[in-house]
Amino acid sequence: MKILSIESSCDETAVAIVENGTTIRSSVVASSSQMHKKWGGIVPEIAAREQLRSILPVLSESLMQANLSLSHIDALAVTVGPGLIGSLLIGVETAKTLAFLTGKPLFSVNHVIAHTYANFVSDSGEEHESITFPAVSLVVSGGHTELYRMESPHTIVWLGGTIDDAAGEAFDKTARLLGFENRGGPAIEAAAKNFNIEHSELNIRLPRPYLPDQPYNFSFSGLKTAIMREVHALKEKQQINEAVIAHLAYEVQESITDVLVRKTQQAAERFHAGSILLSGGVAANSRLREKFNGTAHAPPPALCTDNAVTIGSCAFFLGQPADWRNIHANPNLSVEIGEKLHEMDSV
Ligand code: KG4
Ligand code: ZN
Repeated sequence: MKILSIESSCDETAVAIVENGTTIRSSVVASSSQMHKKWGGIVPEIAAREQLRSILPVLSESLMQANLSLSHIDALAVTVGPGLIGSLLIGVETAKTLAFLTGKPLFSVNHVIAHTYANFVSDSGEEHESITFPAVSLVVSGGHTELYRMESPHTIVWLGGTIDDAAGEAFDKTARLLGFENRGGPAIEAAAKNFNIEHSELNIRLPRPYLPDQPYNFSFSGLKTAIMREVHALKEKQQINEAVIAHLAYEVQESITDVLVRKTQQAAERFHAGSILLSGGVAANSRLREKFNGTAHAPPPALCTDNAVTIGSCAFFLGQPADWRNIHANPNLSVEIGEKLHEMDSV
């Protein structure tokens, strides 16, 4: 089954064609991220305008890459939320128009849950074969840090998530504080690589918010406050320089990745998981991958950040097609799928 999928929840416009949920036939992504830089954050109006400008060229390029026409496509899929309403509407209305014109089934997909499915897709279609169930999935993106348990590719249950800032947000806010560009995860990672512990005269240590009483929840807002205090104190003592900024970048990356790794591993032990699956933009972080020490599946970086391949795969494994008249963009769509398992902790 070939699904043509559309993703437009934020500042990426993406279209992909995925066969049987596992084989990538094409994947095209256009991004307006550079246009938001000077504003210090994503400007929804600009993002929506760029979505509108990109959607048809990206759609056409995706069909061309796969050497297919719309008549070869079996079904359509689209991200309906969560995300920015102006951006979501462009993808949703495009998908509905295609469904109306072609009569093909249309799947509505949750963007955050779909991130997990980056682990199921590859050019060869064989990547998913090494996943063992039950599996624990950590989705770490700009707006979300969520843990899921999967009994099979068709069953995914929300375990918990961030109670305040997401991990990506903590990377982005720290990057801004340290004077790096917007969407700062890659900037923090690059700066941290320049830190050399043997040449450091300062002892900078940030907290690790493990929340032991809430095994599946995360909280990164205190970390942001701690780093703000550290930066102000260093500025007052006139100790801020490039080496100290590298040290701060290193320490914040250590703190975030320590927490993500320990809590995910604990969840995996708790559920006797055969596989750990990482996804979302922060899963592109090489220090995070390194700390899992080969025990976690991590998609190639281009599949960690936003793309439409995840949407097509998720639709195949989880979706129920719906009438296009009943599909609507929902910026606040919940990511808490399935039965909550907190209550089953004592079982
Ligand atoms: O999944 P994604 O592309 O978009 C959302 O759905 O939010 O994730 C974007 C997030 C941003 O916060 C970005 O800073 C972070 O992923 N990110 C990284 C890295 N690459 C992207 N964080 C840490 N290290 C990276 N290499
Ligand atoms: Zn995302």
